[in-house]
Amino acid sequence: MKEGEILFLSKDEVRRFITADEALELSEKALEEFSLGNANNPSKLVLPCYPYHNGHINSMPSYMKYGDVAGVKIVSVYNDNPKTHHLPTTIGTIILFDPDTGMPKAIMDGTLITDLRTGAVSGVNAKHLARKDSKTLAIIGSGVQGYTSMQMVLKAVPGIEEVVGCNTFAPHLEKFIADGKAEYPHLTFSGCTDYREAMKGADIAVYATSADVPLLENAEVDEGCTVITVCELLTKKAVGMFDKWFVDFDECALERYNDGGRMSAEARGLVWEDLTMDDVTGETGDVITGKVPGRTDDRQKILAGAVGMSVEDVICADLVFKRAMEAGAGRIMDLECLK
Ligand SMILES: NC(=O)c1ccc[n+]([C@@H]2O[C@H](COP(=O)([O-])OP(=O)(O)OC[C@H]3O[C@@H](n4cnc5c(N)ncnc54)[C@H](O)[C@@H]3O)[C@@H](O)[C@H]2O)c1
Repeated sequence: MKEGEILFLSKDEVRRFITADEALELSEKALEEFSLGNANNPSKLVLPCYPYHNGHINSMPSYMKYGDVAGVKIVSVYNDNPKTHHLPTTIGTIILFDPDTGMPKAIMDGTLITDLRTGAVSGVNAKHLARKDSKTLAIIGSGVQGYTSMQMVLKAVPGIEEVVGCNTFAPHLEKFIADGKAEYPHLTFSGCTDYREAMKGADIAVYATSADVPLLENAEVDEGCTVITVCELLTKKAVGMFDKWFVDFDECALERYNDGGRMSAEARGLVWEDLTMDDVTGETGDVITGKVPGRTDDRQKILAGAVGMSVEDVICADLVFKRAMEAGAGRIMDLECLK
């Protein structure tokens, strides 16, 4: 490619150049490098489109010393999309830059990478924080991120025998069960519409719903259970139900939980109590690097929240870019910005 040219990669092209196993490994590496201080990953910038539209658009930049990679993901989250427009809730685009010059070098679909790395971080949390003898997995909000979270938790905790899908939207519940049975015929799948029902007997539960009210605070959590949240309005009450609370990135996580929680509480005429650093046990990356102990007792109830980090996206996008270049895949575009 000549200076100024940009490689353009579609979702199918991205799919050709990264596997789920690679996304799992790279997401763990990204969290590890962040913990070691080898990455610049500012808090995501959220553009709310409320009350005019029911969605928000996040801007997520990062630079990683590992691989010398710089990029930004722009991701839209429109919770009504599946029902109203037959579109995904979560839609991403990733731009990679040459870190020497700041020139853009690739624009690629970021939806598949988002789905893979979000599930991967659930897998990483399960690997480091769940009981090794976990057998029952509940996926609450069995949509796209719920499915990839299930796939990655199954890779990370191989002893799971039973999966319970939970969804209030029948087409998504049916698809989850059908796809799950087809992909994992050796596992038992069941479904329900009430998250409190799904929590009964769960060793690991992933919350990945698009609900605009807190759910977890009303559920019973069994001794030894690990709850992983991809998307959940975490309240003081919910966090207080656990022995330890880990997050991917404390500063960003507190901002996201408090902003989202406040908006939801105000809409229901309730008073919001801010979560603070005192509520957080540590970051997942610090558990990976051994700076902070994770689970120290099989009876502990552990909560692991991930709001998503750019480093997970750019590390995956960089692998895809390099492989696509080698294979001569994609289309070259030129913004002619050097003219
Ligand atoms: N942490 C991260 O890194 C990350 C990354 C991407 C998306 N997200 C978040 O994950 C959420 C889900 O994204 P998605 O792409 O999987 O969307 P999705 O629409 O595919 O899945 C969400 C599912 O939750 C279900 N749901 C809503 N309320 C429910 C309830 N009370 N009980 C059970 N199920 C319920 C919906 O019917 C839907 O099937 C988004 O809101 C987004 O903010 C987080």
